[in-house]
Amino acid sequence: MHTPSELKSLFLDYMQQHNFQLAPKELFEPVDYILQLGGKRLRPVLLLMSHNLYQTEVDSALSAAYAYEIFHNFSLVHDDIMDEAPLRRGKATIHQKYDINTGILSGDVMLIYAYKYLLETPDKNLVPELMTLFSKVAAEVCIGQQYDMNFETSDSITIAAYLQMIEYKTASLIAGALKTGALLAGAPAEDLYHLYEFGRNLGIAFQLQDDILDTYGNAATFGKRIGGDIVQNKKTYLVLKAMQLANNTQKQVLENLLSTYPKEEEAKIATVVDIFDALDIKAIASEKKDEYHQKAIAHLALVKVVEERKIHLQEIAKELLERVK
Ligand code: IPE
Ligand code: IPE
Ligand code: MG
Ligand code: MG
Ligand code: MG
Repeated sequence: MHTPSELKSLFLDYMQQHNFQLAPKELFEPVDYILQLGGKRLRPVLLLMSHNLYQTEVDSALSAAYAYEIFHNFSLVHDDIMDEAPLRRGKATIHQKYDINTGILSGDVMLIYAYKYLLETPDKNLVPELMTLFSKVAAEVCIGQQYDMNFETSDSITIAAYLQMIEYKTASLIAGALKTGALLAGAPAEDLYHLYEFGRNLGIAFQLQDDILDTYGNAATFGKRIGGDIVQNKKTYLVLKAMQLANNTQKQVLENLLSTYPKEEEAKIATVVDIFDALDIKAIASEKKDEYHQKAIAHLALVKVVEERKIHLQEIAKELLERVK
């Protein structure tokens, strides 16, 4: 059995052998740029880890792992346009470094390459099922992204609606990656279900942590602009919970700031963070994250492989939720 870092390094080798140094450079250089910027490689590593629960060799899962990573990076390129984000992994976002049209088309071609690599799965009998699953979770990312945008201009979002939105935009792809790895290894249907549910709950916890880091992280390690969600009026768990707990004065300030786009962005961020702090929002969001972490672990426990094989997945789940980047 491989450690997660061994799997990551196998994956990085595969990426290197299948890089995007292609012509025309105006289309592919940005693809190469974003893929080389790094990132945690979470989805491919999880895919290979779930494969590795059943099979020692992971070579036959590398192209699918690449498909998930390319799709994820495609979603980031378009997400950064939609969120007007200046920074990604500590460097300029594609639309900042190049322009918006570049972000659109280079993103589009990445989506196409994601399918191309999924098709390169050696076991052709499995390809239709992989494609069906991939298409489902990829469409859910778009559905989640649309809700995320819709919510920016609404002040009546419920916590249930938020949780559904993050399940779509973030958790589905993580769940899909875990199920794909196991599918490629010929895992039984019940395990496929529990691995998907492990990923779905982990993904929700992962996005809760992302929302916490967006406000409370450190720009140098997180690699994204701190306070970006507040500037964009994102209805994160932090905002929704603060609205629930706020007194009338705090509520009015939040409602006003989070429905407008004041020029003094840093002052807006500072005022909102002061209210969050007064209401202990960071700890409350962290508790919610732990709740989903527990649900995830409960599903992993039901996967029918010997306990010692699950240790790496348990560890990575824990690390992810304590992550600072
Ligand atoms: C960022 O994903 C987008 C979210 C779903 C929160 P990651 O945090 O996995 O980003 P990288 O790939 O490691 O940069
Ligand atoms: C992540 O949402 C969802 C997708 C990229 C599909 P965010 O907008 O919170 O992601 P970051 O924080 O920009 O990475
Ligand atoms: Mg974003
Ligand atoms: Mg976004
Ligand atoms: Mg975010």
